[in-house]
Amino acid sequence: MKKIIIGNWKLNLDHLEAIQLLQKLNYSLEVDIEDNIDIVLAPSHTSLRSLQTIVDADKLKIKISSQDVSAYQSGAFTGEVSASQLCKLNIGYSIIGHSERRTLFNESDEIVNLKVHNSIDNKIVPIICFGESEELRNNNEYLPHIINQVNSSVKGIRKDKVEEIIFAYEPIWAIGTGKVASTEDAIEVLSAVKEEISSKPYYDQDKIRFIYGGSVSPTNATELLNSKIIDGALVGGASLDTEKFVQIIKSIKL
Ligand code: PGA
Repeated sequence: MKKIIIGNWKLNLDHLEAIQLLQKLNYSLEVDIEDNIDIVLAPSHTSLRSLQTIVDADKLKIKISSQDVSAYQSGAFTGEVSASQLCKLNIGYSIIGHSERRTLFNESDEIVNLKVHNSIDNKIVPIICFGESEELRNNNEYLPHIINQVNSSVKGIRKDKVEEIIFAYEPIWAIGTGKVASTEDAIEVLSAVKEEISSKPYYDQDKIRFIYGGSVSPTNATELLNSKIIDGALVGGASLDTEKFVQIIKSIKL
């Protein structure tokens, strides 16, 4: 399975800074890396058009993702950005259900599911995030919680409509904390999710990737990313630093 590294820039960088960072990253990557690893950047909505225009005009291999998408298609939903609007911009991916959205913006499993549907209907690859709190982990209740999140997120998704799905395990206690999950912990969860998904009619082994996110850095990337079970990483903080991000990408043994 081709590995994928996604940089989640969160609420950082204006569109001019985002353009600079895209260009810096592009100059830092060699052709064989770009051919063998999918590299995706998720800037703020305000930078999407600028970055996608550069990617299209210069035929860059880097791909652009939104950090969210509306659960609605159109109408009286002030402030929302729809999947069809993103699709018109050629945006190929959208992060959905990030724990920051679930906890800070009260995003429910039902909302996440609507967003997944809207993305798939508009040929946008959903990067579906799920993961447990520290409390659930300490109480050894994380697996049922995660399986429930995953099942809810893909409810009603038909296999023939799926171009690709990315499932991202992001334990909440590992996000932005410097406390990375061990490779064994990530493998345990991703294997359980894979098993669950493989029993579903929407599953197509060649189109689904299972990745890890949460304090991924150059120090821990080699072990995580060279595991056969982990198909890539969702990188927050370290993706804003080109040197660190490139080191993470290069830690994948081609
Ligand atoms: P982090 O963020 O790498 O800064 O922990 C990951 C994420 O939130 O996607």
